[in-house]
Amino acid sequence: MILTSGVVFTVACLGVVSAQLTFVDNKVVTYPPYVAVKRGAYIVELEHSKAGPSTAAYAASFNSISDVWVSSQFSTLFNGLAVSTSDSISVEQLASVQGVKRVWPVRYHRLPYRMSTANITYPYLHQPTGVSRALHELGLNGKGIKVGIVDTGVDYTHPELGNCWKTTDCPWQYGADFIGDKFDSSSPNPIIIPNATPMDCDGHGTHVAGILSGQGPNVYGVAPGATYGMYRVFSCPVNGNVASTDDIILRGIEAAYQDGHDIISLSLGGGSWPEDPISVACSKLVKKGVVVVAANGNDGANGLYTAGTPAVGHGVIAVGSVDNWNITGAIAEFTTPQGSRSVLLSTPGSDRYPFIFEADVPVVAPMDRNGSALGCAGYAVSLSGKIAVIQRGVCSFAQKAAAAQTAGAIGVVIYNNMAGTLSPSVDGTVTVPVVAISQADGLAVVADIATGPSTVKAPNKLVGTFPASTGGQMSLFSSYGPSPELVIEPLLSAPGGNIWSTYPQRLGSYASLSGTSMATPYVSGTVALLKQARPELSVKEIRSVLANSAKPLRDVATGQMIHPYWSGSGLVNVYDAIKSRAMINPPELSINETTWGPVPGFDQLQALGSVRWAQRSVTIVNTDRNKGMDVWLESSVADSLSMYSVDGNIGVAPRTWPASSASVPPNTLPQIAATDSHVYVAAGQSKNITVIVVAPPGLRELEKWFYGGYLNFTLKWDQESTASNLFVPYAGYNGDYRAADVLSTPSSGLPALTDSNQVAIADVSKLVVSANNTALLLYRLDVPSRVVSATLVDAGGNTVGYLPFGYNEYNARNLPKGDNPLSGATVSDLVFTDKGSAHAIKVPAGKYHVHLAALRPLGDANNSKDYQTWDSDQYSIA
Ligand SMILES: *[C@@H]1O[C@H](CO)[C@@H](O)[C@H](O)[C@H]1NC(C)=O
Ligand SMILES: *[C@@H]1O[C@H](CO)[C@@H](O)[C@H](O)[C@H]1NC(C)=O
Ligand SMILES: *[C@@H]1O[C@H](CO)[C@@H](O)[C@H](O)[C@H]1NC(C)=O
Ligand SMILES: *[C@@H]1O[C@H](CO)[C@@H](O)[C@H](O)[C@H]1NC(C)=O
Ligand SMILES: *[C@@H]1O[C@H](CO)[C@@H](O)[C@H](O)[C@H]1NC(C)=O
Ligand SMILES: *[C@@H]1O[C@H](CO)[C@@H](O)[C@H](O)[C@H]1NC(C)=O
Ligand SMILES: *[C@@H]1O[C@H](CO)[C@@H](O)[C@H](O)[C@H]1NC(C)=O
Ligand SMILES: *[C@@H]1O[C@H](CO)[C@@H](O)[C@H](O)[C@H]1NC(C)=O
Repeated sequence: MILTSGVVFTVACLGVVSAQLTFVDNKVVTYPPYVAVKRGAYIVELEHSKAGPSTAAYAASFNSISDVWVSSQFSTLFNGLAVSTSDSISVEQLASVQGVKRVWPVRYHRLPYRMSTANITYPYLHQPTGVSRALHELGLNGKGIKVGIVDTGVDYTHPELGNCWKTTDCPWQYGADFIGDKFDSSSPNPIIIPNATPMDCDGHGTHVAGILSGQGPNVYGVAPGATYGMYRVFSCPVNGNVASTDDIILRGIEAAYQDGHDIISLSLGGGSWPEDPISVACSKLVKKGVVVVAANGNDGANGLYTAGTPAVGHGVIAVGSVDNWNITGAIAEFTTPQGSRSVLLSTPGSDRYPFIFEADVPVVAPMDRNGSALGCAGYAVSLSGKIAVIQRGVCSFAQKAAAAQTAGAIGVVIYNNMAGTLSPSVDGTVTVPVVAISQADGLAVVADIATGPSTVKAPNKLVGTFPASTGGQMSLFSSYGPSPELVIEPLLSAPGGNIWSTYPQRLGSYASLSGTSMATPYVSGTVALLKQARPELSVKEIRSVLANSAKPLRDVATGQMIHPYWSGSGLVNVYDAIKSRAMINPPELSINETTWGPVPGFDQLQALGSVRWAQRSVTIVNTDRNKGMDVWLESSVADSLSMYSVDGNIGVAPRTWPASSASVPPNTLPQIAATDSHVYVAAGQSKNITVIVVAPPGLRELEKWFYGGYLNFTLKWDQESTASNLFVPYAGYNGDYRAADVLSTPSSGLPALTDSNQVAIADVSKLVVSANNTALLLYRLDVPSRVVSATLVDAGGNTVGYLPFGYNEYNARNLPKGDNPLSGATVSDLVFTDKGSAHAIKVPAGKYHVHLAALRPLGDANNSKDYQTWDSDQYSIA
């Protein structure tokens, strides 16, 4: 699990040896080898039982096992213990204790990198979201509302964040440090020595804090009058990693709960299942009446099913990111014979070598030994005392920077070779400052420099504001839903791309970061304003009101509505949420299963014949106690999404349908029918309507489309002339979801048996596996699967055991552009007789094959028919 600025949400490989986990009576969850888990550290989940022993009693009995130490007890939000053990303790021993539900490994979570730099004009940022009106017309500021933030800590000495800690009238009244400055996730035994206060040594938490609580004059937060708590659970950066573990995050969340916060804001995540311990704790928080807001993830580049935990937790408000309308950030001023040009700079490649040049220095656009602007071939010319402008491409940023440094350059500016922003991270060999600029700026600067001697300067804190071409659109990095069980994620979206906020003073005081990490505190702030204005609303009502009043987004290129799996119900609008006098429940219709046949009772749908359809009941509540209202329902169709191309092969970015609004066959769009498309709801009353959602029959099932759209409710109260609109997104799978494949299509060449270099074995029948010659089973999950098992089958068709790493539960989708593109198991002469890896036996020499079984969506783990299977050819074990 990692914080979500910049990139995702995968449980990433940190090169830590993965502990082997056993499985007894379905009690142990194993993770694939690429998942970094802390050796000898477990979270023991206990059964819920009022009559049973207390958590403290369990803790005592675990402590009485020699070589087992209980490090934390969780009884409020999550029922369990964090334990450490020596290597002599098998997980099986832990799992076999009466009352144990599951044993989870303790996973590492990390913050890998952050994206572009860029000072935002807050009043403008706050206009499209209704925050400006809530603050200035309604006079709200979050006063009286308590918000807990679980993050990297906060530089509470920052002048715009109060410059105080727990003193009278200080915004920071709560919080603690749970990790300290010495934690190094690459050490076998990371040191945890919490500091007296949760001071931030990274920046992520201080940035998040500014979005919520910024007091101005540079950063105006969404809820500057609220009371805050900071629970620091992430380490300082060590070799670029800002890390944490499941148990530390759980402790932070429990402490936030104990301090009685109304809202808990979580810009962190990992995994993808609601059963994950952190998701379980968050679902429990919601049940206890706390509003939990969590980042949906930054893995949009990998397409569908990239929403993380705890965003997928039940009742959690999952937040997607919209790009800011203007980018404000550090700039460089180029002076050439053509005049002067201000250019927006990216985040410098290294914290240690910021791109700061107070006075003009010479700048050139040199050709390398190859006569190329790419700078990969080294330089014959001296670049001594100059800054070099170099094109992106062919070799790495580090190689380009190193070559220029060798030629004497004192700084490097890399310009993009395509649209978009760059983050030119470089390694330790590069000691000159490196930044990136856009392709358009780069080409213009290079052309200007070509006309004669030129200079550039980039004084510290020189900022400029530029309109962003992507303003108001979904951020490309924003993760897509659905959840593994086809629940629409995120719930809604907020500004998260190119957000200027506070940063630790030691690191420059201000920075622009991008991520659903930034959109999350934005939404937490809107909840604070809503709760201040309407304290009577329950958590469920807050979710509905916020989602109902969000504004669905359109793709500017095609004009189509954005699919709810990317943007949820759209851009948050807190003013409309505060002023709304109606509520529609549920706030989203996730169509997980459909019926096949003609739709009974709806004349207008009879002509379609047999179709896939689902029926849902929607409750319309008129919260105005004095006036009745008329409600009209229309539907607004969104793009359909597919991960697959026409030939059935998986791609990365989702394909959308329709590609344009021109000549779309109507049977390729979802259809909506309702028992009543117009109802009158009396003052203070509610009315139910039945809605039929029909999957588009004209979209090819082979391409596995997810259709979706929005129910558009037009509301008009008695004696009023203007109407308003509320929206409820709907979305589902265009096919039989239970029959959907989870393993990648055969044309991908997977699953496969490969050698240790991951090269497919051409003729598996000739493979001879021995203690000294092991192979790999590699497979790719295109869809999350609850259970995947890889077993060894002998020539007589008998299963002899599980391959090492051959049993995994709660599997996320493999992300082609992520840390875990493939999953695998070891093919050796050993198998495990249990689902984990405790009882290894050496198998007798003979002929065997590998049997892989992955549970299909919504499947029953006990029903073999619900698995997608694959069998290798037979090979020999010597
Ligand atoms: C941010 O922009 C505002 C408005 O342009 C400006 O007054 C302020 O000085 C800028 N902040 C920083 C830190 O440069
Ligand atoms: C130099 O140019 C040649 C021919 O275009 C190309 O094949 C080679 O990769 C280039 N070398 C470098 C280091 O850029
Ligand atoms: C931000 O962008 C919008 C739209 O491009 C523009 O109208 C507004 O003036 C910009 N604000 C600033 C401060 O540049
Ligand atoms: C499918 O959705 C319905 C209605 O929301 C829900 O009751 C049911 O539990 C869901 N089924 C699964 C398997 O998630
Ligand atoms: C919702 O319906 C209203 C009334 O027909 C219409 O003006 C509006 O454009 C619709 N909104 C969307 C997003 O389709
Ligand atoms: C409307 O639906 C809700 C939820 O399904 C149900 O609890 C309620 O009783 C229904 N109300 C009416 C008037 O049918
Ligand atoms: C396999 O490796 C072991 C230990 O490296 C060695 O002792 C043994 O002789 C090897 N066996 C074969 C058949 O090569
Ligand atoms: C599968 O079977 C086991 C043992 O019979 C039972 O405890 C478990 O609840 C079943 N799981 C499901 C998902 O039905």
